[in-house]
Amino acid sequence: MKIATFKIFYFLWILCTFICLTDGARILGVFQMPSYSHYQLGDRILKELAARGHEVTLISPYKQMEQTKNFRTIVIENAFEVLERNVVDLFSMSTDNMLSTNLQFDTRFLPYTENTLNSSNVQKLIKSNEKFDIVILERLMNDAFHGFCAHFEAHCIISSPIPTSSWTNIQMGNAGPPSYVPELSSQFSSKMNFFERAYNFLGYLFYTTWFHAFMVPLHNEVMHKYFTNVPHFYDVYYNVSLMLINTHTAVHPPVPRLPNMIEIGGYHIKSPKPIPKDLKAYLDNAKEGVILFSMGSNLRSKDLPNDKRRAILNSFSKLKEKILWKWENESMSDLPGNVKLSKWLPQNDVLAHPNVKLFVTHGGLLSTLEAIYHGIPLVGIPVYGDQYSNMRIAEDYGYGISVPYEYLNEEGLTAALEQGLKNPTFSDVAKRRSKIMHDDQLKPLDKAIFWIEYILRHNGGKHLKSSSLSFNILQYLLLDVIGFISIIIAISICVCIFALKKIRRPHKKVTISKKKN
Ligand SMILES: *[C@@H]1O[C@H](CO)[C@@H](O)[C@H](O)[C@H]1NC(C)=O
Ligand SMILES: *[C@@H]1O[C@H](CO)[C@@H](O)[C@H](O)[C@H]1NC(C)=O
Ligand SMILES: *[C@@H]1O[C@H](CO)[C@@H](O)[C@H](O)[C@H]1NC(C)=O
Repeated sequence: MKIATFKIFYFLWILCTFICLTDGARILGVFQMPSYSHYQLGDRILKELAARGHEVTLISPYKQMEQTKNFRTIVIENAFEVLERNVVDLFSMSTDNMLSTNLQFDTRFLPYTENTLNSSNVQKLIKSNEKFDIVILERLMNDAFHGFCAHFEAHCIISSPIPTSSWTNIQMGNAGPPSYVPELSSQFSSKMNFFERAYNFLGYLFYTTWFHAFMVPLHNEVMHKYFTNVPHFYDVYYNVSLMLINTHTAVHPPVPRLPNMIEIGGYHIKSPKPIPKDLKAYLDNAKEGVILFSMGSNLRSKDLPNDKRRAILNSFSKLKEKILWKWENESMSDLPGNVKLSKWLPQNDVLAHPNVKLFVTHGGLLSTLEAIYHGIPLVGIPVYGDQYSNMRIAEDYGYGISVPYEYLNEEGLTAALEQGLKNPTFSDVAKRRSKIMHDDQLKPLDKAIFWIEYILRHNGGKHLKSSSLSFNILQYLLLDVIGFISIIIAISICVCIFALKKIRRPHKKVTISKKKN
């Protein structure tokens, strides 16, 4: 007994010295989007940092329901009201092209950004004398937030909720040839035909020009309005220590990434929890299989126009499988017998249930990652943003079928559902991809924490920064070198021509003079 007690004390003592000796850093996270999926991404990393002894502050539109040790939230007032004021029918964006989608996002998100900085709670923090070692920004058209990093003299870490594109690559000095790196909202995967490459390239040119010519001055202005004494936008913007990217090689095509650009896709996924009793009974009893249908947290299926909703219902009613539909409204009058509605669903836990055969989704990134994590094939109804390209990749890889929202009708959806259910290759590929997703050296969340602490240990990780960041565009594209070589070649050609003329002229003169004679 005594020895056992001693052992316990000894263990506790060791544990305490370990915890007390680990220097907790002060970390600020800025995740401003009034959208649950974005909130979830920030919450997961920051709570984990708090659990590991760091002192964490989160700026967020969401209040915390319960107290967490080492964790404080600064709530952005009015975030949801600003969202309501700027509300657009997301379903109507399905016909927009890549440029207009991106430009809309850019201009629409600027008021959110300003509202966050103008919020009195955030102002209090900015005006306080608090210090932070690290600032983690969720980058989503809110670049004025780079001011947080400069203001608190902290290492800047970017959390990118979407795959890399010109949008992130240029900031990090990372190579991203538009021949196989699709632009944001481009609807493409890495495999592009001639016209797609041309479109992607033009999109790249237009978007980067627009961003640097129009958005940068606006963000610079907003940044300096709320943060005094910070350098010019570009000095802060290109001074990022680490970028955490929400993609995974199981779900995304391989593209270049510098050593300070780390893939952590899937980190938000928690191990499945027990499902509520009635839902579990429903899933257990569905011997023919269950199809899960959810349009995510930003698009609400209750906002679907009636014709699209009817098309979906009609095609569901023809199946023998049961359908579990995340529906945010009261019950539907014309509901077929095999469809069950639920206002809220523990999506990840449901996907883990062995009777779930297929996931009908909007093709959002978090949903796609969760489906592949559990090896479930997809039928996607992409509407906007990255959803098209997520589904395009799913089709390329063979674990999903895309039925774009604008073309959604009963026949198309029925055909896709039948394929997804009857053709075993979709499920086989999804299971293979799932294996890839589980075969990681470090779990994505541990990887994120490792790299954040690495940046702390190595004082900003300057050694990881690409030297291309110090080049101007002429140097980066080697236009100066190409220009120089062209001049040398041109001069050489001129010299040769001149020399040839010199050699041939006297010779001619001789022959002419000979004839005369
Ligand atoms: C900032 O907040 C103040 C007071 O809450 C408000 O009067 C003002 O309109 C806000 N400005 C912007 C640009 O949102
Ligand atoms: C860049 O970030 C580092 C911290 O990682 C900081 O020490 C440095 O002052 C920053 N440079 C500029 C120009 O803001
Ligand atoms: C949602 O519920 C409200 C109130 O029950 C009803 O008036 C409305 O028509 C419903 N919307 C849809 C799309 O069913």
